[in-house]
Amino acid sequence: MQRRAFVKLVGGGAIVGVSGGVAGCGAAMPDEAIAAWAEAGRNDPAANADPRRWALGFAVLAPHSHNLQSWLVDLSRPGEIELRCDLTRLLPETDPFSRQIMMSQGTFIELLDLALRERGQRAEVTLFPEGAPGPDQLDARPVARIRVVADGGVAKDPLFAQIRRRHTNRAAYDPARPVPVAAWQAMAEAVRTSTLPALVFGHADGAQPERLARHRAIANEAWRIELSTPRTFLESLKVMRVGAAEVARHRDGLTLLDPLPVLMDKLGLFDRSRAPAPDSFVVRGQIDDFAKKMDSTTAFLWLTSEGNDRATQVNAGRAYARVQLAATAAGVVMQPLSQALQEFPEVAGPYAEVHRLLGAERPRQTVQMWARVGHAPSAGPSPRRGVQAHLLPRQGA
Ligand SMILES: Cc1cc2nc3c(=O)[nH]c(=O)nc-3n(C[C@H](O)[C@H](O)[C@H](O)COP(=O)(O)O)c2cc1C
Repeated sequence: MQRRAFVKLVGGGAIVGVSGGVAGCGAAMPDEAIAAWAEAGRNDPAANADPRRWALGFAVLAPHSHNLQSWLVDLSRPGEIELRCDLTRLLPETDPFSRQIMMSQGTFIELLDLALRERGQRAEVTLFPEGAPGPDQLDARPVARIRVVADGGVAKDPLFAQIRRRHTNRAAYDPARPVPVAAWQAMAEAVRTSTLPALVFGHADGAQPERLARHRAIANEAWRIELSTPRTFLESLKVMRVGAAEVARHRDGLTLLDPLPVLMDKLGLFDRSRAPAPDSFVVRGQIDDFAKKMDSTTAFLWLTSEGNDRATQVNAGRAYARVQLAATAAGVVMQPLSQALQEFPEVAGPYAEVHRLLGAERPRQTVQMWARVGHAPSAGPSPRRGVQAHLLPRQGA
């Protein structure tokens, strides 16, 4: 009975944003959930006295898969930042080898580096100083040890100015507005001018309509598989924050503020304990909505690496952060499309296809990031837990 009412309501028009998708927000984001965006760079004595604290205010604004913010930071040694991955914040079903989690450590490191430069500090980053985890599972060893050294000669990076303007944009894009050549160049340049090991940056746009159709088809199919596989759908439901109170309490995960599903949740009609059936209105509505967004998309980008070790994954995350910041500067928005890049068995078909389409030779090369790109009304900031939530308690700050 309850389930039928849920299906009917959702079938009646509400689209529930799940699995990396934050649906269009019908209600206002609570201020406390996004306070970190205003706090970054604010004139705060504690942060001003310690450039590491100041820079962390920007690093926590980094993109992270499912907005899990799996960053733990130890400041106990002066002049050093140690980054560890919060192993309680992983996505074992959709990201079984934690590749995206490692990329999301990289985005954090990149923003940290940009912010430290702004304060005349050089970040000497050593990845996996106690050795890297194997390909299957992460472990408790640090992801990075970053020595922070005052250096008057360190170059500021103009991408810094984009950190607070960068947002993942999941709206439909304007199909009539191509991504300007200069914007593609700026994105490619953002990868090239970094100190990162070679990653191939590629893009496809309206000049290649047949290829675009293949991009869309693969993305749609991978999305369908993720939503039709109960355990992967359920993983997203688990980190979904429904309604202002939940969003403000958690300040992470997938945000759902649309009035109808929030009301249904309040009435006990939104069952988050099990995945809806693959042929349900909920899943079909999601698939249709995603397909419309794909139809509106006339450009895609990707980052391909040689090899796929842990350091490469982290560096791919650094590169992605730079690409998105460069796009932001150029007025271009994007949304990662991770479903076809995921490594759970059911999605193996789209995984192979997207690698073929993008010319990545398996197993030597790995597509680390694939995103749709375009123009859309600006998206607002997503929740952040703030610096304090990431500090390991033993340094007692
Ligand atoms: C490695 C990685 C994979 C991601 N995959 C997706 C995705 O498949 N779909 C999506 O909508 N967003 C994806 N995102 C974006 C995150 O969901 C987003 O960064 C997070 O929700 C925070 O929002 P913000 O980027 O607007 O600050 C991904 C981000 C990263 C770093």
